[in-house]
Amino acid sequence: MDDLVPPNVARCVPYQPGKPLSELAREYGVVDAVKLASNENPLGPSPKVVAALQAALSELHFYPDGAAYDLRHDLARHHGVPMSEVVLGNGSNELIDLVVRTFATRDDHAVFGHPSFVCYPMSCTAAGVPFSAVPLKGNLAWDADALLAAVEPRTKLLFIANPNNPTGAHMGAADLERVLRALPERVIAVLDEAYVEFADAPDFASALTMRGLRERLLILRTFSKAYGIAGLRVGYAIGPAHVVDFLHRVRAPFNVSSLGQVGARAALQDPDHVARYVALNARERARVGAALRELGLAVAPSQANFLLVDFARPGREVYEALLRLGVIVRAMPAPIDTWLRITLGTEPQNDRLIAAVREVLDANA
Ligand SMILES: Cc1ncc(COP(=O)(O)O)c(C=O)c1O
Repeated sequence: MDDLVPPNVARCVPYQPGKPLSELAREYGVVDAVKLASNENPLGPSPKVVAALQAALSELHFYPDGAAYDLRHDLARHHGVPMSEVVLGNGSNELIDLVVRTFATRDDHAVFGHPSFVCYPMSCTAAGVPFSAVPLKGNLAWDADALLAAVEPRTKLLFIANPNNPTGAHMGAADLERVLRALPERVIAVLDEAYVEFADAPDFASALTMRGLRERLLILRTFSKAYGIAGLRVGYAIGPAHVVDFLHRVRAPFNVSSLGQVGARAALQDPDHVARYVALNARERARVGAALRELGLAVAPSQANFLLVDFARPGREVYEALLRLGVIVRAMPAPIDTWLRITLGTEPQNDRLIAAVREVLDANA
C-alpha cells in the first residue's frame, strides 16, 4: 500500500549528521580520531556549565519548567528585550521546524538560499510547504537581489542563515537592511544567526540591530556553537510578542529539558569561555585557511567556525581518505560536491587536519 504517508512525507530524507567518533571506531577501527564535522566548540563546555548540571541532577524526577522562566528571563536581560519576545527551542533546529509549521501551509511558500542550511528544505518538505532554493553567487556568496526576486505573492517565510552554513559567507549589513525593507509585509524574515558570535567582518551586523525595520522579523540563536553545549539542545528565537506567542502555542509543552535550561543559564554566565573560543577560532580560521591555500586548495571566505574547501575532485573520496587518517569532516552534496566543510578545532587538531590533507594530496599527486 502506498497510502501510509502523504506524498510530501514520502519525499522526506533523514538528516545526515557528522559521523560520531564512536561510529568511526566501530567501522574503521580508528580510535584517536578528531571530529571536525559538526561545528562544535572544540574547547568543550564551560566548567561552570558542568558544575551547574551536576548540581541539578538530583532534581531529574521533576518535569522542567514548561515556561522556562529563568532562562527566558536571563536571555531577555542579556539582549535587552522583554521576556514576551523570547521563545526557546530544543536547539534552533526545532524552532526552524516550529516556524514552518506555525506560520505556513501548503498554500504558502518559503524562500532560502542554496546551498544553505539543509533543515530549511527538510522542514518545508515535511510540512508540505512549497519553497524556492535560490542559488548563491558562484554557490558561495549571498545574492540579495536573487532572494528578493524569488519572493512571490504567496511567500510567507524567508530564511537567511547569516553567516551561512555550509559556505561561511555573511550577508553584509547594507544588503540585509535592503532585503528587510523590500520584503512584502506578509513575509516573516527568519534570520538564523547560529554562527553570529564568530562574525567579525566590519560590514557584519546582527538582525537584532534591525528590528525597527520590519515587524515580521524573527532572529534565531543557539547555544550549540560558540556556547559549546550542542548536546543539551537549546536554541531560542527573538521576535515580536504576538509572533512569539504563536510559537509558544504550537511548541511541545516541555520542549527544553531541565538540564538544557540549567546548562544554558550557566553558559550565559561564562562569557569568557565564549570569548576564548571566538578568539581561538579567529586565529585558526586565518592560519588554517592560509595553510590550505598554500596546498593549492580554494578556501571560501568564512565568517563562521568552519571552512569550506574545494578539493577539485569528488569530495566523498577525500572525505573517506581523511576518515582513514582519523579526521572526520563533512562531505557536501551537489552543487558543491568537490568541497568539504571542515570545522575549525584546537591548534593540535587543526595541525592534524593539515597534515592529513597534505598526505591525501601527496597520495593523489
Ligand atoms: C545555520 C544553522 N542553523 C541552525 C542550526 C541548528 O543548530 P541547533 O539545533 O543545534 O541549535 C545549525 C546547526 O548546524 C546551523 O548550521
